[in-house]
Amino acid sequence: MSELFQADGGHRGVTPAVALIDPKFPHNVGAAVRAASCFGAKQVWFSGDRIADALGSATRLPREERMKGYRDVELLNSDRIFDRFDRGVVPVGVEVRDHAEQLPDFTHPERALYVFGPEDGSLPKDVRVHCHRFVIIPTRHCVNLAAAVYLVLYDRLVKRQAAGLDPRVRSSELLAEPRGFISYDDALPWDETPPG
Ligand SMILES: C[S@@+](CC[C@H](N)C(=O)[O-])C[C@H]1O[C@@H](n2cnc3c(N)ncnc32)[C@H](O)[C@@H]1O
Repeated sequence: MSELFQADGGHRGVTPAVALIDPKFPHNVGAAVRAASCFGAKQVWFSGDRIADALGSATRLPREERMKGYRDVELLNSDRIFDRFDRGVVPVGVEVRDHAEQLPDFTHPERALYVFGPEDGSLPKDVRVHCHRFVIIPTRHCVNLAAAVYLVLYDRLVKRQAAGLDPRVRSSELLAEPRGFISYDDALPWDETPPG
């Protein structure tokens, strides 16, 4: 077992959360964890064995996908994801399918579990049956799995901030990582002036 994720030990689901159904590529799981951390989701669940198989004995992902900075997010492997969430949770299938709600019109449930399909497939029936709602991102092509996670979580944040449900954070307080903001050696006069 990789130290990168935890096996399901009967963990309780915490919303908002992300569920990746049988993902194939570790870099997408890493990017989903990063997205969750950026937007304040506390858990990324994934099902299947393909990530463990792809990682093999590796205990670290390649440099770009390292999750060190995102320890505020639990990464959990389970084939009983829906059982871990209580009945007040709304599983939302994110999928390219007809009759799904379009993301711009979508009102996010307070306690949402966002469920994404694998890179090389779609949400299977035994997963779809758990989903109360479906949402489609209006793109001309299917987007990368991790990109879909980013888009949905970003949409949630923007709408919640607009509705006054989540606080807007001042730009100067946004970046938690040590690198912080870019500072320029060749700053222009307005680079140093905070927006009014
Ligand atoms: C890369 S896509 C799946 C690829 C596709 N089924 C195939 O094999 O060609 C992986 C997942 O990203 C999500 N996704 C990607 N683009 C989407 C879109 N435009 N709307 C909703 N979900 C999307 C869905 O959860 C989908 O199952």
